[in-house]
Amino acid sequence: MDARDLVRSEKLVRSVKVICTAQGLRSLRSAWRRRRSDAVGLPRRGTELARVPGEVEGADPEPGGGVVRFARSSLRVRVTTGGAVFCGWDGAEPEPSYALDGPCPEADERAELEPDTGGGWRVVSERVTVMVSRTGRVEVRTPGGVVLRRDLPPRWWEPAGAPGPAEPGAGVGGEGARWMQRSEVAADARFFGLGGRASGPRLRDGVYRLWNTDPGGSFEPGDDPLYLTMPVQLVVADAGTHLVFHDNSWDGSVTLREGEEGAGSGHDRPGSCRTRMDGGPLRYWVIVGTPARVLHGWAALTGAPAVPPQWALGHHHARWGFGDAAEVRRVVAGYRERDLPLSALHLDIDHYADHRVFTVDGAHFPDLPGLAAELLEDGVRLVSIVDPAVKAEPGDAVYASGAAENVFVRDTRGHEVRGVVWPGESVFPDFTDPRVRKWWGGLYAERLAQGFSGVWHDMNEPVSFAAFGETTLPRSARHALEGRGGDHREAHNVYALAMARAGYEGLCELRPDERPFLFSRSGWAGLQRYGGSWSGDVATGWAGLRASLSLVIGLGLSGVPYSGPDIGGFTGFPSPELYLRWFQLGAYLPLFRTHSAISAGRREPWEFGSEVLEHAAAALRERQRLMPYFTTLAQLAARTGAPYVRPVWWRTPKDRALRDCEDAFLLGDALLVAPVLEEGTRRRPVRLPRGRWYDTVTGRAYDGPGKVVLDAPLSGIPVLARAGSVVPVTGPDGGVELEVWTPCQGRKGSGAGTLAVETGDGWEKPELLRFATRLRDGALTVEREGGGEVGYPVRIRGEAPLEESKPPRRTS
Ligand code: NOJ
Repeated sequence: MDARDLVRSEKLVRSVKVICTAQGLRSLRSAWRRRRSDAVGLPRRGTELARVPGEVEGADPEPGGGVVRFARSSLRVRVTTGGAVFCGWDGAEPEPSYALDGPCPEADERAELEPDTGGGWRVVSERVTVMVSRTGRVEVRTPGGVVLRRDLPPRWWEPAGAPGPAEPGAGVGGEGARWMQRSEVAADARFFGLGGRASGPRLRDGVYRLWNTDPGGSFEPGDDPLYLTMPVQLVVADAGTHLVFHDNSWDGSVTLREGEEGAGSGHDRPGSCRTRMDGGPLRYWVIVGTPARVLHGWAALTGAPAVPPQWALGHHHARWGFGDAAEVRRVVAGYRERDLPLSALHLDIDHYADHRVFTVDGAHFPDLPGLAAELLEDGVRLVSIVDPAVKAEPGDAVYASGAAENVFVRDTRGHEVRGVVWPGESVFPDFTDPRVRKWWGGLYAERLAQGFSGVWHDMNEPVSFAAFGETTLPRSARHALEGRGGDHREAHNVYALAMARAGYEGLCELRPDERPFLFSRSGWAGLQRYGGSWSGDVATGWAGLRASLSLVIGLGLSGVPYSGPDIGGFTGFPSPELYLRWFQLGAYLPLFRTHSAISAGRREPWEFGSEVLEHAAAALRERQRLMPYFTTLAQLAARTGAPYVRPVWWRTPKDRALRDCEDAFLLGDALLVAPVLEEGTRRRPVRLPRGRWYDTVTGRAYDGPGKVVLDAPLSGIPVLARAGSVVPVTGPDGGVELEVWTPCQGRKGSGAGTLAVETGDGWEKPELLRFATRLRDGALTVEREGGGEVGYPVRIRGEAPLEESKPPRRTS
């Protein structure tokens, strides 16, 4: 029996156990109900006919491009002002869309549709050329003519006797046909993104499903799909980087196959990607450029990442099962007594009365507002879990209010869809209805009155426990979909995104002077507008530790820059070493949170012995010291779309060795973090991007590109700083100071850094100060761009490299 069989049989044993309880019987009933609803509520798939576009017949120009007509379809190509290109088959338009932030960007009037040789057409624009062949093959090329992506003619399967090419916008709120499109990319290309994937960040050959899913129990690398999928892929090749987003929320899959150079007879085999969807429009966006430009374009299209309040960048401690206020006080006192910084403490479902959302178990938490105020005096905020499922019980106030307002998802016969979640039999608000979002947002007043400062959305794939079949709502369940109407097949993947919108907008309205703090287990393209995410129930183990890094990098490349794992893993009992290594990694990730399941071991840093405590305390102090850098990265993410945590190839995507490096990351521009992901490691190889890098512990300089082997003692993981960079940190007196890492000598060695001048947790946009550094003739200068005083103490770090034997002098 291999490990997977073991997991499967454990799951089976668990299912059997579950079925023998009251909750188990409910899940059994709910699974039957789901099966029945779908049997009557979903259209039957009869005989289907395949369709391809056929031969080109003509083209009609439009602003930004035009529509190319084929015998059995049409393709709209539109270049928009930011450079993003829209392609829509069968009349699909960019709107309506859950991903776009506001109206679709304007067409770029300079882009023109022109006939091409061979009967095809092309749209030429400043940054990209789109070639459409006479049979519907689409090539995205750089202005220099290099092909970045070749989409082969798509194929649809539709019921025999259907009226042919669907109406404009078909599949958005309607049935639509199943479709498939195969694409080719360069032989050297690497794939990233697709939301949160456990086996990444480089997505190797395989099928990646697009259906938000709670894997149940816990997950490890190889478990797919997980909670937050999205049809956005970033493709990085020597020829350039591009992002493709299929704006379609139906169930689907992406099959990736990396190419091979010089395969067989010396010819390259291109990489390939096959996108299949069970329905909905075939429309997609392509953005080309450097990784930074592409992510900027993606944020321009789908919205700037919300900036978390400053405290949310500190350390959080969570646990499912604190149980009562006394235990919460004990844990917080444990941090205080040991002088360990703590920003927030999270209460899980056990603080609810009978697991019912928007309630408090008064017996165990008798005065929650009082507890919150008391913790705040120590600088600790309370964060509340919020689950979407509402207990279907007439006496439940939320249920009564929701039923009166008719907010719950219904089936095709008009009955409320009942599922099973923690509180037992439950109903689910239809967040795809603006009226329901408003109602739900108003409920957060209760959380604020209880003293909570932020929210943690969970179980929103959405989960409904089931003894068999899918653990979600019936696919036939009806949803408003912003008034267009449709079913769960289309609404499933955007359910959590719409819930995040409801929560975020509610919090903005209820507490208009503060930026909301919200993070969500599930989501879709655009989630970053409302908040971040976290790893979900990552299995405790070295593999889980690795998976949690993949998730954070992958989510960042999919546009969601704020996330982090359950430090120590969700389940079980991490060894002291594993816990420490996870903690040391977490200290450099945006969401720095310890969390675990009710049955799991402790996760407080002092529970693993004095050595772990000492080193975890050092990691916590380093995080505190880096707070000005983290707040700056949060502001930069909002303005540029660049994630805080970036793959090591971020600035040098042509470095192939870096493209394959998955065990290190850049934190902003300045730092390279090389966590320990394997048991027993005390030294590890670190692949450096081009340029000079300093070991932040020894100050020793190393020149990249190349590989160095660095010490990774239990006391800390290797972190390197880029020569010339300026890292804003907290100085010994608590004020901001600038840590300047000695630049290389001469013109090549100039460097830079940014400081967002903190303005509190409101909406005021902080000023961004840019600093430039230079080393000439042994004199190091630090200047504020735009002139004026540097205005902050400067601390120079990094040994003078051998060839620059004169020690650098500071002349700021
Ligand atoms: C599942 C979440 O992923 C986990 O973090 C949480 O502790 C449990 N639900 C209980 O609410």
